[in-house]
Amino acid sequence: MPNIVVVGTQWGDEGKGKVVDLLAPHVNVVARFAGGNNAGHTVVAGREKYVLHTIPSGILHPGCRCVIGCGVVVDPGSLIEEMEALVRRGVQLDGNLFISKNAHLIMPYHPALDLASEAKLGDRRIGTTGKGVGPAYVDKAGRVGIRMADLLNERLFREKLERNVAQKNRVLREIYDAETFTVEEILDKYLRYAGWLAPYITDTALLLSRWIDSGYSVMFEGAQATMLDIDHGTYPYITSSSTTAGGASTGTGVPPTKIHGVVGVSKAYTTRVGGGPFPTELSGTLADLLLARGHEYGATTGRPRRCGWFDAVVGRYAVRINGLDTVALTKLDVLDTLETVKVCTAYLHRGEILTEFPEDETVVAEAQPVYEELEGWRAPTVGARNEADLPAKARRYIERLEELVGVPFCLISTGAQREETILCEDSPLLRWFPSARSSLL
Ligand code: IMP
Repeated sequence: MPNIVVVGTQWGDEGKGKVVDLLAPHVNVVARFAGGNNAGHTVVAGREKYVLHTIPSGILHPGCRCVIGCGVVVDPGSLIEEMEALVRRGVQLDGNLFISKNAHLIMPYHPALDLASEAKLGDRRIGTTGKGVGPAYVDKAGRVGIRMADLLNERLFREKLERNVAQKNRVLREIYDAETFTVEEILDKYLRYAGWLAPYITDTALLLSRWIDSGYSVMFEGAQATMLDIDHGTYPYITSSSTTAGGASTGTGVPPTKIHGVVGVSKAYTTRVGGGPFPTELSGTLADLLLARGHEYGATTGRPRRCGWFDAVVGRYAVRINGLDTVALTKLDVLDTLETVKVCTAYLHRGEILTEFPEDETVVAEAQPVYEELEGWRAPTVGARNEADLPAKARRYIERLEELVGVPFCLISTGAQREETILCEDSPLLRWFPSARSSLL
């Protein structure tokens, strides 16, 4: 049975939640492998809208098992809120949700350090979500992090907490002049969380291995996206985890040899939240139009997103770094009213044409987009059920993106609803999920 990774190809918010939700009925397990509650995966099912932050989007499908892998950092308070909200809406968690013992905890001092560090950076701030994700990964890499398994061992948890609180308080007080924490207040709260979460905490790498050996199919749900990856993104304006396809292995313990394919999710244009370079960024009326038509406000923070044209240099880079087999293109409908649509095919830097995404952050910051202009289709695409129903100029736009990016597209999304999706002819998804033909058409 195929095990497939789904990743974002741009700077996040591409609509991975919708794609994972559409494919979830074809797999047995959905596993999150990176990030934390900085993510906001929106899924619309009929009149119901769900925004998931830490729990995999597969949870909305009865019988689909969901794993929070060791690569995820978990804020237990936020996770419990999310769990309670799902249970109130009739979602069954028991037997369907499994949390890795090795996933690191976001502790109360992590958001405090995140916010204090951002404030101190001033103009150079990253524009983080303020959820403490970066500082939690700092502790993980620094080998002082506290993990899910520690929650189940009060003595060990207290010991690690005492050490950490003493050190973090010094940093908060002496470097940031910020409020400090007491061990007892955190201990009390986290031990209550432990009671709640204990039934879900387990060795998920072993579970996944057994499930895969027994023929289960796993989908690995990425969070954030390629250009926010700690190694391959636009450093330092990135998140602190391995958001690209390689992270699916390290973030779950499933070896690369058991993974059969990678699906990238791209918006038909580009958005970015927070600071950092964005070569195709627009301003003025066009940016406002994409913001308004695309409802481009962060699902986690509510911040307006920066908007720009589709960047095929980034698209090709995402294909290379993730080994993408195919791309699901989302939010095509947002461009429906435009007279012309631009696509960035290369960058111009100091007289040189660059067709590959530059590694050097100063080059990225200075790169000017080279655009190709296509005619807009000025007709609604929402509700089209197959490619032939799309306006010819919209089809031309899609074909041109496919040519530039270099892999075939599998899905075209023209709205938030599940049924506002086109399964492309010869969609590579059918190789893995033949039954998707009847369910998605
Ligand atoms: P952090 O992950 O909160 O540390 O934020 C680091 C950078 O990643 C900032 O630019 C955030 O805006 C961005 N980021 C984090 N999570 C998301 C997301 O789910 N969508 C889009 N951008 C994100």
